[in-house]
Amino acid sequence: MVVIPVNDWTRHRELLKTVPYGKVLPSATYIHRVGQVCQQGPFGQLLARLSEHHRIGEEFNVVKFRTDAPRLSFLRYSSFFEEAHPCLEESIAIDLTSGRSLRTTYRDSLNPPILHRKELMLAPEHPRFEEFAALSRAEEQAGLYSNTAVIGFRINWERLLAAHGLAIEGHSLLRTTEQEAGVGNGVAVHRHKTALTRYQLSRPVKTLIEYSQLQPYSTFLDYGCGLGGDVRGLAELGFDANGWDPAHAPDGPRKESDIVNLGFVLNVIEDPAERLETLCAAWRFAKRLLVVSAQIGDASSEAPRAATLNDGILTLRNTFQKYFGQQELRCYIEDALEMPAVPVALGIFYVFREPADHQSFLQSRSRRRVDWESVTVGFSKPQRPPREARTARRRPDPFAERLELIEQFWSLTLQLGRLPVAKEFPGDAELCAAFGSTKRALRMLLARNGQQIFERAQAARKSDLLVYLASSHLRKPIPFGHLPDSVKADISVFFGTYSRGLKQGRDLLYSLADSSTIVLACDEAAVGWQDERSLYARSSHAGQLPTVLRTLLACAELLYGDINEADILRIHKFSGKVTFLTYSDFQSKLLPQLAIRTKVDLRAARVDVFDHTSDRQLLFFKERFLDADDPERQRLLLISDKLRHVGISESAFLGPTSAQLRQILCDSGESELVCELGLDWNECPR
Ligand SMILES: C[S@@+](CC[C@H](N)C(=O)[O-])C[C@H]1O[C@@H](n2cnc3c(N)ncnc32)[C@H](O)[C@@H]1O
Repeated sequence: MVVIPVNDWTRHRELLKTVPYGKVLPSATYIHRVGQVCQQGPFGQLLARLSEHHRIGEEFNVVKFRTDAPRLSFLRYSSFFEEAHPCLEESIAIDLTSGRSLRTTYRDSLNPPILHRKELMLAPEHPRFEEFAALSRAEEQAGLYSNTAVIGFRINWERLLAAHGLAIEGHSLLRTTEQEAGVGNGVAVHRHKTALTRYQLSRPVKTLIEYSQLQPYSTFLDYGCGLGGDVRGLAELGFDANGWDPAHAPDGPRKESDIVNLGFVLNVIEDPAERLETLCAAWRFAKRLLVVSAQIGDASSEAPRAATLNDGILTLRNTFQKYFGQQELRCYIEDALEMPAVPVALGIFYVFREPADHQSFLQSRSRRRVDWESVTVGFSKPQRPPREARTARRRPDPFAERLELIEQFWSLTLQLGRLPVAKEFPGDAELCAAFGSTKRALRMLLARNGQQIFERAQAARKSDLLVYLASSHLRKPIPFGHLPDSVKADISVFFGTYSRGLKQGRDLLYSLADSSTIVLACDEAAVGWQDERSLYARSSHAGQLPTVLRTLLACAELLYGDINEADILRIHKFSGKVTFLTYSDFQSKLLPQLAIRTKVDLRAARVDVFDHTSDRQLLFFKERFLDADDPERQRLLLISDKLRHVGISESAFLGPTSAQLRQILCDSGESELVCELGLDWNECPR
């Protein structure tokens, strides 16, 4: 495998700065492979090794060198020299630290990315350089580059030319009188009919509350708000929420807001150019965070009832639906906004304006939710002094006098696993006045039976941070100065320096490549159920898994979204894949039915989603995934005994489907169990 050591990444980036030409964008430099830069010297050697290893031919003629992350892509533009603005046909992105590659094809895309200012990718002495440069000058003078947000996509570019009364022939810009061509195929699409009456907040908006992204003072704009259910719901909760919708709220204020929600809008827009403009427009209004959600799925499941239109389907109600794949939606957002999109759940992505907010969000996700309420050292009940001592003069006890303050301090210290810095603890000045310093206050607390609990909290937080630092190697590198203050404090307390922390994280990440590391970690796991090949665990128990497995899950989360969206997760011991299983009724049913299975292949950076709703595949022995004190446990244990009795094996995770189980129970005369499990007795042969 061809990889570059991460230490060499800084050198690689420095070398890129010395390249004499190239089309330079904020996060990448594009260079055509014909030139010297890609044929000789360090880049020539690197590209030769990569193309040999990944079997990449000369038809991938442009290289996109990322300057923000150790990655590069080989891009295929077959008509680079023939067409003025060639379309991207295929790309192979390679992660230089892990050697993984991801191939994306744009051949079926109605609105593929296109190139501008091609001459910049060639050496100035190239024979076609001046011809291409002349076209770029003409386009600039015609005002075509005044808003570059969406010109990088074919249909948007063609519309812009038509709106200016211009056309391109060969490599010349000409005046024309032709009207722009539409892609709507003359069909009247009723987009407004897609808006639903909501009786509760939508899933994307709920995530904002769950992740504390919506603060009481934040402003919120629902872009494409439909009938306004989310806006009303948030206003009732006291938030400053507004909505705009071209059909349902055209007079709603479209103003810059801390958070902008673009909820299930992109998938109803049939015109690919307008779809892209809508995404860019919503982003312009987002001061801090844009939440984008869209339908994920497979149009073929609708095929018998719907006709195809552009890149989606036209339903019988004349509404349009474009079904995205999870990875497709992520690439789409990132291509359009040139910003990283963080998956939060299936079909839901966050795009943060500031890298520090992005990092803070990722770090908060790798922090386990520890129930510190259950950890008490009994400060709230100060010891009563012995009877005779009560009459004697005693020095005042600073703990008893400032019980509330010391409890707040202790609870925050346990949450952080370290001493809070002054800014983190509002009572800092009062505490220092009473105890001399926070260090002294902590020493006194440790002396009062707090030592062990504090050590547990330290170990837990250090391991959370390690998980974050390990998975940070799969993202754009963040300079230490851009990290939130609390993370900086964590790093210096737990690792001394950022580079030491990153190194430990990297070692942990690399250890995942060896399946024996995963197998051993599974042996250590105290939750879930496992067989030879896989470990299955309740997603809410993920925080109790060993650090290695939590790191694997944090990496999978970068592609999948929040693991808590699934009920059960499966760690494949030998391939390092992670599968997320969502049941339609996990909480309420004794034998829940599988709804969605999402498989994340980290090595191939691939996410596959499978809809199992019609299979009626059941989850047996659910008690394996419940807490020891769960009130449902006893009942489930009894049921499981009966199921074992009729031959349901507990050595395999997958058992019979609902229909097969019904048959087995009917054959064994277990009519009561059929009813107890809620299976349909009428379908049993008598
Ligand atoms: C499926 S509804 C979603 C409504 C709302 N966000 C929700 O989740 O309940 C899609 C909405 O997108 C709106 N819409 C269609 N084209 C749009 C555009 N170009 N910009 C903004 N909204 C648009 C439609 O009017 C419709 O109300």
